[in-house]
Amino acid sequence: NRRAYTLNKTGTIKDTRTLVLPGYVEPAATHDSQIIILGALNSLSSREMITYTTQETVSHVLTPEGAQIALQGSHEARVWTALPPKGAGEPLTPQQLEGKVGAETSKVGQGRAFKNKWIGKEGNGLVRLASSIHDTTQLEMREVDSTGTLKSGEKALAELRKRKLIVQRKGQWFSVYKGSHFSTSTAKPETDLTVDMLNSGSWKTSTYKKYNFEAAGIPTNGGALHPLLKVREEIRNIFLEMGFAEMPTSSFVESGFWCFDALFVPQQHPAREVQDTFYLSDPSTSLPPPADYYSRVSAVHENGGFGSTGYRAPWSHEESRKLLLRTHTTASSAAMLWKLAARCRGEKDEDEADEAAHASSVPSAPKKNGDDGFRPAKLFSIDRVFRNETMDATHLAEFHQVEGVVADRGLTLADLIGFMRVFFKKMGIENIRFKPAYNPYTEPSLEIFAFHPLLKKWVEVGNSGMFRPEMLEPMGFPKDVHVHGWGIGLERPTMIRYGISNIRTLVGHKVSIEGVESSPAVRF
Ligand code: PHE
Repeated sequence: NRRAYTLNKTGTIKDTRTLVLPGYVEPAATHDSQIIILGALNSLSSREMITYTTQETVSHVLTPEGAQIALQGSHEARVWTALPPKGAGEPLTPQQLEGKVGAETSKVGQGRAFKNKWIGKEGNGLVRLASSIHDTTQLEMREVDSTGTLKSGEKALAELRKRKLIVQRKGQWFSVYKGSHFSTSTAKPETDLTVDMLNSGSWKTSTYKKYNFEAAGIPTNGGALHPLLKVREEIRNIFLEMGFAEMPTSSFVESGFWCFDALFVPQQHPAREVQDTFYLSDPSTSLPPPADYYSRVSAVHENGGFGSTGYRAPWSHEESRKLLLRTHTTASSAAMLWKLAARCRGEKDEDEADEAAHASSVPSAPKKNGDDGFRPAKLFSIDRVFRNETMDATHLAEFHQVEGVVADRGLTLADLIGFMRVFFKKMGIENIRFKPAYNPYTEPSLEIFAFHPLLKKWVEVGNSGMFRPEMLEPMGFPKDVHVHGWGIGLERPTMIRYGISNIRTLVGHKVSIEGVESSPAVRF
């Protein structure tokens, strides 16, 4: 839709917007209209009303300055036009010239006009020297405007680009053809067959949108489990299929008593230092633990008993009553084991007491002869623990522990090892090894190592052991009841599973919600 430019009668154009001629379109507008056009083409072609092909072109368009030159001539030509021929009138002073052609044109145009020997000085004024001129720039502008390029070639185009008179424009051309359902009216095709359409009979004449079997479908909008929770669920299933029951682990805040003392961790143990454990300041002390159990625990620490010499260090009530964020889920295991031993202590366990309270007419079953009240148990937990660690790519101050505890008569270390082999195999880890280790609450203790197929080396995956008599007997367990336990982290297997190397992409404010939403399910 091009038209030849005509100079308006006064030879000046006041509103620069009128200089934005066909062919010069702001880039943003180009982009927008392109999207609109493409959208319309796609919509029409999806209804088979049209087909189209696309061609890319590169052409040039005029800048506003270029368009002005196309209309009015180059600055130098305008300067030449404004001046009187030599000897045929009063020479113009630079001020007069500026008044006629404007400051910009006068400044830029004089230089080039002098260089071309089109104009010269006469006295204090300026006059034409050339009797006629050939305004190449204007001709080039007109050529670019009507053809999008220059016959003389790329070098000349590059020069004009440098002078900011033209800009390159990538163009997209669409060749549009009539399609099999071509029509000049754009009634929306039906996407559903409705009862109304059947009743009215309009279905016979309606056009229908073709079903698109290639469409990706709309992503479902719902909650998503965090990768840690997916792995937790898998591990939980392993425990459940092995007959374990889940322990309550909601108490993130524990006392020194349950986190350490009950586990026979000495009161001077380095794990209790503030650089390893977060202590609470308000409130800072716990309610007193059960009195007789407390005295048995303090006694075994201070003076020994049950075959142990104890630590023979003065007992601190204060240390025991300190409130802290639990450093391991073994704190919860200890509380559960103490409950499990209730029947052995001759107490009703809490469930029984509960039942009795609700149905007092049902008498509790009388103890059988020789029954010491012990019932075997397999317990597990997966929950959060807190340690005052220096944080780095693989350590945070809070993380999750997976813990299993088995209590039965006559359990041995072989049972523990056997159990762990089965458990890890279910997690897909066949190759495990054990190394003697030390825990204050287990003897013997074993660290668990698994062969990492990618790192091609043995990595520590967990910690385990047989709980000490100093821990179990004050709770009231009979001597032949042995308890073994083990703990593994949840973050490490999850990171391996999802190929994550920095824990901060798994936990914390840098976690991407999209990553969580698209993370695949885990099957061990
Ligand atoms: N509590 C130990 C830890 O924090 C794990 C463990 C649990 C070890 C039970 C032995 C028995 O690593």
